[in-house]
Amino acid sequence: MIVKIVLVVCSLSVIVEGGKCPCSTPDLCNPIKDTTRKEVFAFSVKNDSNYYMKYDLTKVTTIVACGGYNPQLLCLAHKLGIRVVRLVDFPVTTLMNKTDQQVWINTTLAEVREHFWDGINIDFESAINVKTAKELTSFMTNIYQRFKQEFPYFQITIDVPYKQPCVYNRCFDYAALSKVTDFLVIMAYDEHSGGTAGANSPLGNEEIGIKSYLKINIPKSKLVYAAPWYGYRFRCSKFLKNRCVIGEQKPFRGKRPFGSAVESEIPYIDIANLIITKHIAVNFDNTTMTPFFTYQEADNATYQIWFDDAQSLKLKYDMAVQYGIRGVSMWTADSIDYNNTISAQEQRREIWGTIPSYGKDNIVELI
Ligand SMILES: *[C@@H]1O[C@H](CO)[C@@H](O)[C@H](O)[C@H]1NC(C)=O
Ligand SMILES: *[C@@H]1O[C@H](CO)[C@@H](O)[C@H](O)[C@H]1NC(C)=O
Ligand SMILES: *[C@@H]1O[C@H](CO)[C@@H](O)[C@H](O)[C@H]1NC(C)=O
Ligand SMILES: *[C@@H]1O[C@H](CO)[C@@H](O)[C@H](O)[C@H]1NC(C)=O
Ligand SMILES: *[C@@H]1O[C@H](CO)[C@@H](O)[C@H](O)[C@H]1NC(C)=O
Ligand SMILES: *[C@@H]1O[C@H](CO)[C@@H](O)[C@H](O)[C@H]1NC(C)=O
Repeated sequence: MIVKIVLVVCSLSVIVEGGKCPCSTPDLCNPIKDTTRKEVFAFSVKNDSNYYMKYDLTKVTTIVACGGYNPQLLCLAHKLGIRVVRLVDFPVTTLMNKTDQQVWINTTLAEVREHFWDGINIDFESAINVKTAKELTSFMTNIYQRFKQEFPYFQITIDVPYKQPCVYNRCFDYAALSKVTDFLVIMAYDEHSGGTAGANSPLGNEEIGIKSYLKINIPKSKLVYAAPWYGYRFRCSKFLKNRCVIGEQKPFRGKRPFGSAVESEIPYIDIANLIITKHIAVNFDNTTMTPFFTYQEADNATYQIWFDDAQSLKLKYDMAVQYGIRGVSMWTADSIDYNNTISAQEQRREIWGTIPSYGKDNIVELI
């Protein structure tokens, strides 16, 4: 997942007072207090009630509001016992400058007081070496201490690659980070590399990834598994032994091309619509347990799409459940169809149906 966020830094004054509660009753601004429950951790990017109101809110425990602060979402989520957390990041240079770290912590704390965030999800995806990783651990330790001191129920999480160590040169000290966070969110996608089209998130890799974190003694309760609700579209320059050979690759963080015409991300809603409008027959690759198909666009070029659907997602989430880890997640909850048509409702029922029902004991009632 690659998210560009503009942090609005309030550089002149640091707000010390809490904000004004926007909900119908002030209790709805109280933090969610359960710190041990299983997690369905939903990345929400749209900041739009046409989307988040139709999530399976009986299952969701945390909404990561990547679209920013939304008072309606806060009040609704708290009514349902759901945490609302903020997606945050910092530039890699912050790790070299203690002053910048203090400013970051102070600014983010002020935002939490102002907007009643229940937590932060740190989406730091820079390549760092083992030496810089020590600075990351030290910064995260400070973050953890400062936030937990002021907000005891605050949830602090960090996103990590599908396996450790050093994937995409992100040589974080994962075991140390697990001790200064509530849990790590395993971003189990963007795993494709090489010159032929292939799966975003092969099932076998997923198990290797979870095991790699357990092997360094990270407790099961500190791992949440995130699967992709999107696929990759590859432009085939030719076919070799039935494999779609993609054109020249531009390296992305030394690994995959990103946003190039050769290989691009495509949300599940667009893939499902394409399958219907073009009457496409979908194949299933039983090595990676991933659906894919080949088709032509109006430009007459041949494309192949590898993606995840209810069948492949169910296999992944069931695997995560079998490992007894803290919970599951998806990038993103908004990648499917939230229209009011029958087929959209059916799609949501199928895709949300792959998510386990852990239950929330503090759930009030559903609107
Ligand atoms: C999110 O949506 C709400 C409701 O439409 C709006 O009030 C708010 O300003 C939006 N927040 C951001 C960060 O765009
Ligand atoms: C750290 O950052 C601050 C503010 O961004 C800057 O004034 C200072 O010179 C930096 N310190 C070092 C050692 O780079
Ligand atoms: C951050 O806040 C702490 C505690 O309020 C304060 O002592 C410190 O000076 C602040 N640091 C910066 C760089 O704003
Ligand atoms: C995968 O599919 C091929 C072709 O249909 C079949 O020969 C093979 O036995 C299958 N492998 C598994 C593990 O199911
Ligand atoms: C695609 O192929 C069709 C049929 O051969 C042709 O009519 C059309 O002009 C081609 N389109 C492009 C963009 O080359
Ligand atoms: C409704 O469907 C259209 C067409 O597929 C899509 O662009 C739009 O994002 C959908 N809206 C929602 C709320 O999912």
